[in-house]
Amino acid sequence: MTSMLERIPSLFGAVLSLSALSAQASPDHPDQAAIASPHPIATAAGREILVDGGNAFDAAIAISATLAVVEPYGSGMGGGGFFLLRQAGEPVQYQFLDAREKAPLKSKLKMFYRHGVAQPDLSLNGPLAAAIPGLPAALVELAERYGRLPLSISMAPAIRIAYRGFKVDEVYRERASWRLFALRANKESARLFLRNNDVPDIGEIIKQPELAQTLDRLADKGRAGFYSGLTAQAMVSGVRAAGGIWNYHDFEEYEVITRTPLRFQLADQRELISAPPPSAGGIALAQSLFMLQQLPWRESEKVQRAHYVVEVLRRAFRDRVLFGDPDFVPNPIAQVLAPDYLFELTGSIDPHRATPNNILPPAPRWREGDNTSHFSVLDNEGNAVAATLSLNLPFGSTFTVPGTGVILNDEMDDFAVDPKGSNTYGLVGSQANIIEPGKRPLSSMSPSFIESPQAFTAFGTPGGSRIPSVVLLSMLQYLDDQPVTQWTSAPRYHHQYIPDVLEYEAGAFTEEELSDLRERGYRLRETKRDFGNQQVLLWRKNNAKVEAASDPRGIGLSATFRPDAPLNLVRTCTDQSCLP
Ligand code: DON
Repeated sequence: MTSMLERIPSLFGAVLSLSALSAQASPDHPDQAAIASPHPIATAAGREILVDGGNAFDAAIAISATLAVVEPYGSGMGGGGFFLLRQAGEPVQYQFLDAREKAPLKSKLKMFYRHGVAQPDLSLNGPLAAAIPGLPAALVELAERYGRLPLSISMAPAIRIAYRGFKVDEVYRERASWRLFALRANKESARLFLRNNDVPDIGEIIKQPELAQTLDRLADKGRAGFYSGLTAQAMVSGVRAAGGIWNYHDFEEYEVITRTPLRFQLADQRELISAPPPSAGGIALAQSLFMLQQLPWRESEKVQRAHYVVEVLRRAFRDRVLFGDPDFVPNPIAQVLAPDYLFELTGSIDPHRATPNNILPPAPRWREGDNTSHFSVLDNEGNAVAATLSLNLPFGSTFTVPGTGVILNDEMDDFAVDPKGSNTYGLVGSQANIIEPGKRPLSSMSPSFIESPQAFTAFGTPGGSRIPSVVLLSMLQYLDDQPVTQWTSAPRYHHQYIPDVLEYEAGAFTEEELSDLRERGYRLRETKRDFGNQQVLLWRKNNAKVEAASDPRGIGLSATFRPDAPLNLVRTCTDQSCLP
């Protein structure tokens, strides 16, 4: 397998650092701002807005809108996401903006069945696969309630780049090649994102004037600039003309929901702040961290540590079927996070053998009423955002609405399309996550903070069902006092209960370690590709220093800087093309 790292070695661990001016160290304020995003142009857009006097929330708008342009495969106006916010102040406040897409009001339980059989193609490709977008509403909410700048300023970099174009990079080519057939099947997507019906070459310029106009309407008119008027009309009629089921009412009634983040006390005065339902990710992280606290993972050698991590993931993923959109189904969060239950789950871990799924202690008794992008940004006042944004598969449904430049998500596949089957990530279906009109599909996206009196940290990644595992492994690097570059680069492995398989990246384990794992009873599978694209931040409160790191598996760029300091690059990536 060729890893992303091998193919673009010059971008490895790209870090842009601007010299720190002497600043008063204070536990309330970092002495610099920091951004870690999966694309250098998005990092530059965030920096531009911070330098222009915006706060972390304005920068989050700039980064999200720019990612919608330069990562049409990862996130965008046709998709949704979750924004975890930290508002500096006394006391610090945390908010969770749920901008998850919603099932159209005309959705039906068996809308993806034909002749009695669920058809994955229908929930993954084309307009029927698309749920109602939430990202545009989230940007408006961020600007109106949290930011300092109007959208016309914070979205300006994205609009500029959509008009001027950006250069195709290695990641773009890879994602486009995965989705080539589906992209070819949609004329508008093929026109915008392919060249001569093929994957464009490195360095080709992708211009998106229609998207620029869509972004401009949003920046100019706010919510009305997307959810009514010209954009809404084009969206609804474009989707319907192609066989979809959207209507205006879907757009009128779409709301971002401000939810209370999942908060979970950890040892050593640390607190996990993460995604609540409709994400199952925060709960899995809380369960996993609690169980690991009872286990000697830190002092264990590599295979033993992996064994503990895999066994806690097995148990956490088992409980995923209990969760769904909290506006539709009750979610037994207190039950699965109850210490007695978690002690029992931990007690069932054999330190030397894989636990067969069928002998796990029962889940809490409960009547039942799973390509993407992540960035993290911190300003020098202590406001912060960790945001995971998604279209689901790369290039979403591959359906671009004519005239808008907006490529739609295929998030409908995150529902239990077939409650007895599984979705594209092999996640098993459940009653709690069946399709219902206006409902949000269950997600694994887990933007997260861990905060203590000593430090503030932010985590997040794409990766479908593997998101909680990727975030957990990064958190363990932090809890084990490893440097931030290690949080993003450490080798990855994953277990999701069903299938009962331990997946690992090439090179994550030596042959000897693999046979040790096999002897413990694991079925092992090397993944065809590396997974995840983690973007992390660390603010040490004792000296006010901040650090950031972008996953070396991607082409992301992290930056730490004082927004008011003159540009002074102390280290850049070796390949100038990765600089904004
Ligand atoms: O919400 C979810 O869990 C998925 N739609 C996320 C998809 C994803 O991360 C794909 N990335 N590789």
